[in-house]
Amino acid sequence: MLSDTLRLGVNIDHVATVRNARGSAYPDPVRAAMLAEEAGADGITAHLREDRRHISDRDIDRLMAELTLPLNFEMAATDEMQAIALRHKPHAVCIVPEKRQEVTTEGGLEVAKQENRLAHFIAPLRDAGCRVSIFIAADRPQIEAAARIGAAVVELHTGAYCDLHAEGDFTARDVELERLRSMATYAHDLGLEVHAGHGLTYDTVQPVAAFPELRELNIGHFLIGEAIFRGLTDSIAEMRRLMDEARAEGVR
Ligand code: PXP
Repeated sequence: MLSDTLRLGVNIDHVATVRNARGSAYPDPVRAAMLAEEAGADGITAHLREDRRHISDRDIDRLMAELTLPLNFEMAATDEMQAIALRHKPHAVCIVPEKRQEVTTEGGLEVAKQENRLAHFIAPLRDAGCRVSIFIAADRPQIEAAARIGAAVVELHTGAYCDLHAEGDFTARDVELERLRSMATYAHDLGLEVHAGHGLTYDTVQPVAAFPELRELNIGHFLIGEAIFRGLTDSIAEMRRLMDEARAEGVR
């Protein structure tokens, strides 16, 4: 079913990055999550990495205890993370690829080549009532594999589209945007809920937000950076406004 509402999930990882840079107790990502709710976020996303470089186990404990918004718990497909997710049973779990050396989640998950393992991996999470999402590149075989393993959601990686925009290669950017658009339609037609995210800014969000099949965007790094200049509430409220505007106007 198509819907006019597009949820905004605010990723608070990089509030924890700033905190951890000095090993202090501030800034507090849970406080950021509370402000995000006031600013119009529909959910909070936090990625507990294997190396705990930003979000900590205690952050997840506190988010589960204190947050009124749904938590989207991002994690790699490891036994350790599965046990943590099953202990907390967050509203949603998003499975992402993770490499220790990477600065950020560089690509989508390779689902097609590990279909059996991932099907077994997500089954207990689904049984526990978590909405399972798989973060993938906008590729047909990955989408088909995500549908076959029983994921409820695919989140399409918008990083390449955003990078091409930043590099000023608008021809290649528009090709990538079309790929995202057609794969959002394809995933939706297979019965998957479609989300997107990574690298989105005020300049890049609207063409993606206008995809009618899209139900949720997850945005973090830009919003936390922008908060330095205009405050977190304003930074998020402006993203919310741009998303709503794109939605109301249709494809731009
Ligand atoms: N979605 C997923 C699955 C991610 O891994 C990330 C980054 O952690 C994001 C969205 C948000 O990306 P950004 O912080 O670049 O907005």
